Amino acid sequence: MGHATGEKILSRLLLLGQFGQEGGIYFRTPFTTAEAAAIDRIREWMHEVGLTVRRDAVGNLIGRIQGRDPAAKVVATGSHLDSVRDGGVFDGPLGVLAGIEVVGQLLAERGEPEVPVEVIAFTGEEGSRFPLGLLGSRLMAGLARAEEVAQLRDRDGVRLGEALARAGLDSAALDQVARDDLSCLIELHIEQGPILERAGVEVGVVETIVGIHRIQAVVLGQADHAGTTPLDMRADALLGAADVVLALPELVRPSGGVVTVGQLDIMPGSSNVVPGRVLLSIDLRHRDAGELMRLGRTLRERAEALVTRRGLRLEWQPVAATAPVATDPGLRARIQRAADALGHSTREMLSGAGHDAMAIAARCPVAMIFTPCRGGFSHRPDEFADATMIEPGFAVLKRTLGDLAWG
Ligand code: HGY
Ligand code: MN
Ligand code: MN
Repeated sequence: MGHATGEKILSRLLLLGQFGQEGGIYFRTPFTTAEAAAIDRIREWMHEVGLTVRRDAVGNLIGRIQGRDPAAKVVATGSHLDSVRDGGVFDGPLGVLAGIEVVGQLLAERGEPEVPVEVIAFTGEEGSRFPLGLLGSRLMAGLARAEEVAQLRDRDGVRLGEALARAGLDSAALDQVARDDLSCLIELHIEQGPILERAGVEVGVVETIVGIHRIQAVVLGQADHAGTTPLDMRADALLGAADVVLALPELVRPSGGVVTVGQLDIMPGSSNVVPGRVLLSIDLRHRDAGELMRLGRTLRERAEALVTRRGLRLEWQPVAATAPVATDPGLRARIQRAADALGHSTREMLSGAGHDAMAIAARCPVAMIFTPCRGGFSHRPDEFADATMIEPGFAVLKRTLGDLAWG
């Protein structure tokens, strides 16, 4: 196979990336016109290969081939459509477009599969509009309660239920998104790190997906006049927040985990007012569940001490905790056999990024195939994978899905 397939997927990824370009940055979030335009495009590509397409109540787009035994459990592939702010156009959509192309080629070459096959475009994986990540996959896996999800608000205060209604989706049917008819999910994704490219390895076989704790910490002080309030009479919330931000990495570094403060909201946010309230997002990750819990406790204790030392208060609000997920050994073996048969080099690895597969793992066995990406860059505009990077992972996905669903 030349690079025609990789080139086709690459050109579609770049075309799809135009939906979400705003003010010079790429930011595609759930239930927006940008997402709707991307979904319309993907719906066409799904129809072109013969998939029947539906959207579930939370907006996951599902392309399905019935198969000879429609009542059998579904072999699924796919990934997410949404992005982080100022992110890249490969993170997520690669798994959706590769899935469509795999099914299209297998249908053309081998006809109807034995069992149903689905390509799923999950919504809201990044949690960059509404605070809960893995939104579509969590609901599909029955891991999130519809009534709680509907109450989530974005930074403009828009309730998720309202955003769904505006997008023509039925928030009253959110509890019907959960399903138990999946036999497995295999997700193709860029590695989002430098390991494969540096090692010259063509395909990553994910062993474990890292556990993630998302926490919202709020430091509370007192807003005051910037000019008339002496320095030693202030309760400046930003100074407490700054102490916390600087302390976190040193606490986590020895464990081999990672921690990130990606959002800092200073309120009231005027240049001539002492900050009375500061919200920090804390993203804590570790491959070991026990370590993750221990670190969560340690960070909270240290943050409390740092903040109270300045006479300030701390609110520590866990937003979402996702345990590390081991992929299925049987599926990994199938992927390995497919790569060996195709002559593609492989490496078993940890995923430091979270993925929809970790939510779906609550319902069925999952596996992930990584492709290298240029420089390992991701969650930034220069995220990129060329056709030669895409092809091997595509070929291994095709071979593996072919074995699983076509027999
Ligand atoms: O945050 C992550 O690891 C993923 O990109 N949502
Ligand atoms: Mn991402
Ligand atoms: Mn992703």
